[in-house]
Amino acid sequence: MSLAIETTQLARQFGNTLAVDGLNLRVPKGCFYGFLGPNGAGKSTTIKMLTGLLAPTGGSIRILGGEMSDPDVARETRRRIGVVPEHLGLYDNLTAREYLTFIGRMYLMPRDVIQDRTQQLLEVMGLQNEEKKLTLEFSHGMKKKLALAGALLPNPEMLFLDEPFEGVDAVSSRLLRDVLKRCISHGVTLFLTSHVLEIVEKLCTEVGIIARGRLVMQEPMDQIRASGSLEERFLSAVGSDHLEAQKLSWLE
Ligand SMILES: Nc1ncnc2c1ncn2[C@@H]1O[C@H](COP(=O)(O)OP(=O)(O)O)[C@@H](O)[C@H]1O
Ligand SMILES: [Mg+2]
Repeated sequence: MSLAIETTQLARQFGNTLAVDGLNLRVPKGCFYGFLGPNGAGKSTTIKMLTGLLAPTGGSIRILGGEMSDPDVARETRRRIGVVPEHLGLYDNLTAREYLTFIGRMYLMPRDVIQDRTQQLLEVMGLQNEEKKLTLEFSHGMKKKLALAGALLPNPEMLFLDEPFEGVDAVSSRLLRDVLKRCISHGVTLFLTSHVLEIVEKLCTEVGIIARGRLVMQEPMDQIRASGSLEERFLSAVGSDHLEAQKLSWLE
């Protein structure tokens, strides 16, 4: 099996906090990988390390076969991947078209290809009638769609998405799902983080569960379905101690 992502004992420490603790991720090429975990489990920290936004404090990362500790390999590999990070960083004073053109130029794409793909992406994302707005005037959902458009523009082999459905309405969410399905049928490998079980259950073909920085489960979705529900597996994997109703003195 050919792997798109392989990490060995990947770790990240912030002061005394071990945010990511010895992760061994195995993400097959062409799969839709759901990286699931409660808030604060280490999902964003992991995706930042995988995409080169944050340096690991331990372990190693191979993306699309390339060893990311080698700066030349990392630079070449980053050309082949797209990222929608936690903090979108869309450059406030650009319109959507200007933003996509800027991304295209950064990737040294030919101008006619940038123009053609930008037009198609704006239409697919329903942003073609927002030409006069700067991204700082965009709603949260519009920003997410534009960030995904930017990640898709260079036609990456692999896409990393940090909570792409967070704060997105039902219509846009459906649209994003359809776009991601199209990516999968085109052979793109998708790595998505989410704290929402239903999203991962509906979309993903492989699931990794992270809790307190550690990978507590990694399995194909078919196998999970065959042995019960994802919710049961999630609760038993992350520990459901926190589900016990805690006392709130004034609500006694
Ligand atoms: N830049 C940082 N400085 C200090 N602690 C951080 C930083 N980023 C994340 N953390 C801590 O690392 C842990 C994991 O955070 P994060 O990866 O954002 O979780 P998730 O995305 O799963 O909600 C949390 O305890 C968080 O407070
Ligand atoms: Mg996060």
